[in-house]
Amino acid sequence: MSEDPPPLFLSGPMGSGKSTLGRAIASRLRVSFVDLDARIEAEQGAMVMQIFKECGEPEFRRIERETAERVLAEGRAKVIALGGGTVTDRALRRRFLERGVLVTLRAPVDELVRRVGGAADRPLLARGDQARAVLAGLIEERAAAYAECHAAVETEGRAIDAIADEVIRVWRERPVVVPLGERTYRVEIGAGVAARVGVRLAQAGVERTVLVVSDWNVEEPWARRCREHAAAAGYRAIPVSLPPGEPSKTLASVEAIWDAALEAGIDRASGLVAVGGGVVGDLGGFAASTLLRGIAFGQIPTTLLAMVDSSVGGKTGFDRPQGKNLIGTFHQPRFVLCDVDALSTLERGERIAGLAELAKAAWLDGEDAVAALERDAEALREGAPGPTAEAIRRAVALKARIVAEDERERGRRELLNLGHTFGHAMEAASGFRMRHGEAVARGMVIAIRIAQRLGHADGAAAARLERLLEALGLPIDPERHLDAATFAFVSADKKRAGAEVRVVLPGAPGDTRIHPIRLADLERLALGGG
Ligand SMILES: NC(=O)c1ccc[n+]([C@@H]2O[C@H](COP(=O)([O-])OP(=O)(O)OC[C@H]3O[C@@H](n4cnc5c(N)ncnc54)[C@H](O)[C@@H]3O)[C@@H](O)[C@H]2O)c1
Repeated sequence: MSEDPPPLFLSGPMGSGKSTLGRAIASRLRVSFVDLDARIEAEQGAMVMQIFKECGEPEFRRIERETAERVLAEGRAKVIALGGGTVTDRALRRRFLERGVLVTLRAPVDELVRRVGGAADRPLLARGDQARAVLAGLIEERAAAYAECHAAVETEGRAIDAIADEVIRVWRERPVVVPLGERTYRVEIGAGVAARVGVRLAQAGVERTVLVVSDWNVEEPWARRCREHAAAAGYRAIPVSLPPGEPSKTLASVEAIWDAALEAGIDRASGLVAVGGGVVGDLGGFAASTLLRGIAFGQIPTTLLAMVDSSVGGKTGFDRPQGKNLIGTFHQPRFVLCDVDALSTLERGERIAGLAELAKAAWLDGEDAVAALERDAEALREGAPGPTAEAIRRAVALKARIVAEDERERGRRELLNLGHTFGHAMEAASGFRMRHGEAVARGMVIAIRIAQRLGHADGAAAARLERLLEALGLPIDPERHLDAATFAFVSADKKRAGAEVRVVLPGAPGDTRIHPIRLADLERLALGGG
């Protein structure tokens, strides 16, 4: 356990073992334990049952929320057993997810009924003796709330020590959660995590067949290893290897995946795993969302860009001659395994280009994230695994927060396009010879210069962003790429609304806004003319 472990919250229906397990984990790790119901009873001088009966459920939930907030604010409790319905409060649940590690304990209804028995002290069971129906109803009602967690852990037929081991592992590792109700998934970050693909496929309900989509550069060793891990877990793993790079992000590649899947005789219980960069991830996600009207999808990103950006959030698609990503769907992955080992085979220039995504995420996130990148710039440029994993974690956590708020990009998610209005255009104007990350770095430089000209950013912020990008080894020379071809692509950009382009304008770290700019003004603002 690190110096100051975050709090561990145990959730789950009544009878799932929250208090027993919580006490066992706390005593094993010699940390403090709070049972939320017991705390409420002590503070209120009344049994939970009684508060429920006399004041009603809404009032009990209010007391429960306030008590939980106090326990959080005290900061002493490390293991906290929640009440069965505590996580039904969305705001509170999201706070547990952000502040600590939230684990849901599960067991089949019959097992829960057996464990709670008559349970005269369980208010929601006291509605009658139909314990099974009541419990089954509650679990169904709360399914989306229970699903938003760092891990759902099965408890039936397992020794308490084994369950504790699993929970402690999750607590230590703390995956990033993308909380989307029953479509919640986790991003696991670290060396070797790709080996978990078999277990994650099984948890996603995938049976028998899995398509492993990759490109020629990633095939050896990463896609092969993925197939081996899947095969070791009993899956028939079908390889699909595409030519690498943006020129492959076409309908023809999608067709190649569709055909391989159909020839392999996939069914609705089959799955698809994309092992590769953003191109493979976007193509694989699109194919998974359309095959048999949607099959389960997992991501094993192998570039920095794919780890911090494209593998999380569910945007899929491919390019058309008219522009990038013009055809696509939203199809969230069931799991994302960011195995930092994969970065070891990435060509240096490609890896450095990916740092642009880290810079973008840090600038959106705020001062702490930017300062961390400034501190670690050299180590990141050299590909040091520790700082790289840490920076990936921060960037993914930011993306997860934004996606949870705005899954379909109707608001805040648009901020993630920072640097992309001009970035996409320069990339396209270069015939995709310019690397995406290099284009985004140049695009960010233009964006902050425009922000400066519009009074949103000051000179110090602009100079700081340029220094950071340079320290990361990224280009900061957009001028020579701001030609007629680039502006033609800007005006064709899909974000254009009428005669305006919605440009993401960075100010100081953490202070980015979206500003519609008339196309007629944009060229002048970008070039710095009066
Ligand atoms: N879906 C989204 O939300 C989203 C977000 C951002 C970007 N994108 C898309 O992502 C794409 C860019 O992604 P990218 O930069 O990862 O490009 P990419 O997939 O083309 O990968 C870059 C190059 O690195 C190679 N490569 C990948 N992993 C490797 C490894 N571990 N070792 C050796 N070589 C490896 C690839 O074969 C390719 O040649 C663009 O198409 C962009 O539109 C999507």
